[in-house]
Amino acid sequence: MTPEFLIIHQQAQPHVAHIALNRPKELNALNLQLMTELRDALRALDEDEQVRVIVLSGNEKAFAAGADIRQMAGRTAMDMYNVDQFSTWDAIKKIKKPLIAAVSGFALGGGCELAMLCDMIVASETAKFGQPEIKIGVMPGAGGTQRLTRAVGKALAMEMVLTGKFITADEAWKAGLINRVVPVELYLEEAFRLAAEIAQLSPLAVKMAKESVLRAFDSTLDEGLHFERKNFYLLFASEDQKEGMQAFLEKRAPVFTGK
Ligand code: CAA
Repeated sequence: MTPEFLIIHQQAQPHVAHIALNRPKELNALNLQLMTELRDALRALDEDEQVRVIVLSGNEKAFAAGADIRQMAGRTAMDMYNVDQFSTWDAIKKIKKPLIAAVSGFALGGGCELAMLCDMIVASETAKFGQPEIKIGVMPGAGGTQRLTRAVGKALAMEMVLTGKFITADEAWKAGLINRVVPVELYLEEAFRLAAEIAQLSPLAVKMAKESVLRAFDSTLDEGLHFERKNFYLLFASEDQKEGMQAFLEKRAPVFTGK
C-alpha cells in the first residue's frame, strides 16, 4: 500500500534510499499511522539488496514536532499501554543499515528522539532540537531521557528535559548530538553525500560496524569488546574482506558487492 505520510525514493542516489516524512500541515507530528508506515518502509528498505544507506528527512520547516498531541490528548494510561505506540520504535531500532537523519527546522519531542534513533544527524543551521514534553505535563517517552543523556551528558540533558528549552543546531553540534551543521539549502545534499560515502563501502562491514557501535550503549566494556571481536572475525567469511584487502595490496580501488 502507498504510504499516506511518507515520500519514498528507493534510489535517491546509487544505493541510497530517501524517506521524507510528509505531514507538513502538522509539522510532521508522528501519529500512529505515520510511525507504522515508517517502520514498514524501513523494514522493506532493510531487505532491499540495492539499498545500503537510508536518509530520513522531514521538510525545511520541520523534521518532526513530536508525537501527535491531538491523538494522545484524550488517552488513558490503559489506552497508552494497549496501543503501545513505541513498539514501532523498537522495530526501527533493529534496522541494520545506517540511518542518517537530515534535520531542518523543528526536531522536538518524538522528533528529536527519532533523529537520535538514527545513526547520524546532519542538520541545517535552522534546526532546533528539544524535548518540550515537560511543558505539556508529561516527559519524553521514546528515548529522550536516555539517548539525549548519553549523547550530550547530564547537565544539558537535564536542562533540556526539565525546562523544555530548545537548542540550536550549533549548540547541538558543540554538545556532540549531531554530526554536522550546514546552510539550509545544503542539508539534504550533505546527508546524501555522507550516505553515498558510506554506500561505497562493504555493506556487510558497515552493518556489523553499526551493530557494534550501538552495542557500546548496552554493554560493559568487556562484553562490547567481545561482541566487536566476533564481528571482526566474522567479516573474514565475506568476499568483501578478500576484495578490500587485496585491492589495498594491489593499490587499486575495491569493488564491494555485499557478499
Ligand atoms: N502534535 C500534533 N500537532 C502538532 C504538533 C504535535 N506534536 N506540533 C505541531 N502541531 C500542529 C499544530 O497543532 C498546528 O496545527 P493547526 O494548524 O491545526 O492548529 C500546526 O501543527 C502548526 O503548528 P503551530 O501553529 O503551533 O506552529 P508554530 O510555528 O507556531 O509553532 C512549534 C511550532 C513550536 C513546534 C509548536 O507547534 C509546538 O510547540 N509543537 C509541539 C511540540 C511538542 O510539545 N512536542 C512534544 C510532543 S509529545 C512527545 O513527543 C512524546 C514523546 O516523547 C514521543
